[in-house]
Amino acid sequence: MIYEGQNLTVSLLDNGFAELVFDAKGSVNKFDRQTISDLDEATQAIAANSDVKGVVVRSAKPAFIVGADITEFTDMFAQPEEEVLAWVAKTSKVFDRFEDLPVPTVAAVNGFALGGGCEMALACDLRVVDTTASIGLPEVKLGLMPGFGGTVRLPRLIGSDNALEWMTTGKDRKGQQALNEGAVDAVVAPEKLTEAALSMVADAAAGKIDWQARRASKKAPLKLNSNEAMMSFSTAQAFVAAKAGKHYPAPHMMVETVKNASSLDRDGALALENQGFVKLAKTDAAKAQIGIFMADQLVKGKGKKLAKSATKAVKMNAVLGAGIMGGGIAYQSAVKGLPVVMKDINQPALDLGLSEAAKILNKGMQLGKVTPEKMAKTLNAITPSLEYSAIKDVDLVIEAVVENPKVKSIVLKETEQHVDDDTILCSNTSTISINQLAQSLEKPERFCGMHFFNPVHRMPLVEIIRGEKTSDDTIAAVVATTLQMGKTPIVVNDCPGFLVNRVLFPYFAGFSKLVLDGADFVAVDKVMEKQFGWPMGPAYLLDVVGMDTADHAASVMADGIPERMAKVENDPVTLLFKEERLGQKNAKGFYNFSKDKRGKPKKDAAPEAYELIKPHQAEASEFSSEEIIARLMIPMANEAIRCLEEGIVASAAEADMALIYGLGFPPFRGGIFRYIETMGLANFVELADKYAHLGPIYQITDGVRQMAAEGKSYFA
Ligand SMILES: NC(=O)c1ccc[n+]([C@@H]2O[C@H](COP(=O)([O-])OP(=O)(O)OC[C@H]3O[C@@H](n4cnc5c(N)ncnc54)[C@H](O)[C@@H]3O)[C@@H](O)[C@H]2O)c1
Repeated sequence: MIYEGQNLTVSLLDNGFAELVFDAKGSVNKFDRQTISDLDEATQAIAANSDVKGVVVRSAKPAFIVGADITEFTDMFAQPEEEVLAWVAKTSKVFDRFEDLPVPTVAAVNGFALGGGCEMALACDLRVVDTTASIGLPEVKLGLMPGFGGTVRLPRLIGSDNALEWMTTGKDRKGQQALNEGAVDAVVAPEKLTEAALSMVADAAAGKIDWQARRASKKAPLKLNSNEAMMSFSTAQAFVAAKAGKHYPAPHMMVETVKNASSLDRDGALALENQGFVKLAKTDAAKAQIGIFMADQLVKGKGKKLAKSATKAVKMNAVLGAGIMGGGIAYQSAVKGLPVVMKDINQPALDLGLSEAAKILNKGMQLGKVTPEKMAKTLNAITPSLEYSAIKDVDLVIEAVVENPKVKSIVLKETEQHVDDDTILCSNTSTISINQLAQSLEKPERFCGMHFFNPVHRMPLVEIIRGEKTSDDTIAAVVATTLQMGKTPIVVNDCPGFLVNRVLFPYFAGFSKLVLDGADFVAVDKVMEKQFGWPMGPAYLLDVVGMDTADHAASVMADGIPERMAKVENDPVTLLFKEERLGQKNAKGFYNFSKDKRGKPKKDAAPEAYELIKPHQAEASEFSSEEIIARLMIPMANEAIRCLEEGIVASAAEADMALIYGLGFPPFRGGIFRYIETMGLANFVELADKYAHLGPIYQITDGVRQMAAEGKSYFA
């Protein structure tokens, strides 16, 4: 043994080659502070040993190295810029020293080699990967860029165009594709990996592979003349501008860094990488995206733990109501291998539900993602029925009939009579209190909310609502089923609208009041999309939700939380609804929906909508972007704070994920609580106070006022 660290060892084999083996204590190898220090010491030990003829780097785990230890980032990046710079410079030098070893080095990559793991492989002279390998630089997803030499070595290895594509999209490559692009030198079967790497390092040491030349080109400026450079980098800039837009600084910084470093050698280029990395590490976007990563881990961990505790296995589902949601839920269940009975009260609805599922599958087939066998299997797993008798053997029933408490209560009561004693009952209601619906049941302990989002096959969230009487077993089984259906469960407590819709409706109310105060709904949409970053502005979103649904849900919310959510007088939503301007579903709402000459769908602000709103509107006036954002986002933030204070949601992190997964909250803002924290709690309080006269949805809780005064954080 040449070196024995906590997370890696180096041993000298009989043939004079050394093996550097990553084998951390946990389940995966990652670059935390300890591992980097181990690598540094191991490199020194190898350099000091003149018997070593070459080095193979491999992992003793099912994956090579999954990346840096992201849990260390938050504290690290909170330090002053100079300290973050000193850290990244020092760390990247560890990789340089490894690259500079006087002998050839070969990475033997199995499983994931991501981020720092990929950069470790890049620091080697040669790379052999097995067929399980996935190699890539996903830092962009955290709002960062590679910081251990990735922006320097990858472009010099595979060309700047390819390298920028890897880095700005963050997508990883399987072995064969990486080989085609020149990032690796061989792909072999898993059982041949170590042998192939050892034979490659022996060939290099014997001079059969010119490893010195390969190393030299990794350390030299990029081989681009000025014309090529101009072409390459302006194309990359345009690509990034179109794909990432202005809210995500990381991909822009990558292009800039690779461009400015193109005429520099390794050390010069690395200095630029270090600086770029630190600038990004200090951005709000990185903070938000790292926060999302951590919150996602938390949510996934909680889900897995709950699922593990489930005592009831769900092998068959039923869905009641074959409408937009019922059809979507049936599809999702079937496609993930859980057979499902789809029950409705009329045949045309069942036909529609099935044809919706077929439509999604057909689209998948056109894209080459679904085989005809998969399509047949999925459709066969859906059993349409008009009879309750069809659901007698199912393990879990999801009620998705019309949003009417009376109808739902009757349906749930009837269902209870037709299923086994231990069959779980769920409601997909968007707004009606689960405790209220539970009143119709004999066994409320086996009942909870299972709130899917539209379109079901695309939206990752399922909000699981625990009623007062819901048992832990029920929650565990529903969480397990949600995971089985490929969705992310977040468990919340009961209240009207639960978490997601409870915070959405005050936002809509903020929008309605702003329009009545003279704002142009198109201008509001523009600000909320372009400036704030929502996938759609509120008027467009209301058109998609449907004015009938939105108006009805607003009434349910008003009944449930009258002190804040009383219906807005002359609400534009109601005005449009009364004139049957239902939105996208009948092609007329705030916008008129039509097709352009080429048959592409388009939308135009509807003069009819302006006409309907005008008599109730204050004189038209211009509002600044800041004001528009404040008037819509403060109500949402206030309601989210109340949900946290009332224990509807367990943590700020889960609330953030629910809004990102359920509403498409802009990821670069990290969720509603991250948004408030980025603004600063004291600033938020001050801003909200400025608008407090507009009504209760703008008035903050004592809790947040106190937190702001004490300088506390929702993420502490
Ligand atoms: N549409 C959305 O965006 C959305 C999102 C989340 C949750 N939800 C909730 O999902 C539920 C369904 O909404 P939807 O948009 O799919 O409605 P929908 O009107 O498209 O479908 C409702 C279906 O239920 C059927 N139905 C009515 N009474 C029935 C009964 N007694 N037994 C069986 N089927 C019956 C109807 O025939 C219809 O096919 C509602 O509670 C709604 O609030 C809707």
